[in-house]
Amino acid sequence: MLSVVVLISGQGSNLQALLQACEQADYPAHVVAVGADRDAAGLQHAEERGIATFVVRYRDFAGRDEWGHALLTEVQRFQPGLVVLSGLMRLLPPEVVDALSPRLINTHPAYLPEFPGAHGVRDALAAGVERTGASIIVVDNGIDDGPVIAQERVPVLPGDTEDSLHERIKPVERRLLIQAVRDIATERIDLKEPAAR
Ligand code: GRF
Repeated sequence: MLSVVVLISGQGSNLQALLQACEQADYPAHVVAVGADRDAAGLQHAEERGIATFVVRYRDFAGRDEWGHALLTEVQRFQPGLVVLSGLMRLLPPEVVDALSPRLINTHPAYLPEFPGAHGVRDALAAGVERTGASIIVVDNGIDDGPVIAQERVPVLPGDTEDSLHERIKPVERRLLIQAVRDIATERIDLKEPAAR
């Protein structure tokens, strides 16, 4: 059974979908803890299931490196086999990436390498493309440029707003995330070392 720590900043709808998948008897992974960089609403999905949560508030630290060090300490307490960034709206410092990657994956609401960064949905809309997508990647020290492990196209429709397009992308992200975690657990996707260490 693959043990997973999930890191979030927001509503945690992708987290919720993963937690629901983990409740299926034949799903080969379980979430051991959920962490956040702020008092994220999505922590409630873990709390209501009795899953451990932790908050490492970015603003409580002198800078990114100090924050990242404290976050890594919390993550490693749970000795996860995989860490999932599911809407964590912070760049992780190199110490954290180097300690956890390649067993560190991120969901992104665009078809990478198209539209990396914090505004993938907005940027796709602004570019006027007819198709964008969703991607799951291994996190490295670049910005959304690690190896893609799953991705799928999503159409942009006339009249789309950032919200309507994001709501069309999110179910695809959820499905890809659930499948990617399953494939990592069953070693159909072969990630090597770190994470727990
Ligand atoms: C997802 O689209 C994620 O890729 C993006 O923010 C969204 C997270 O939403 N960075 P939620 O917190 O899972 O509802």
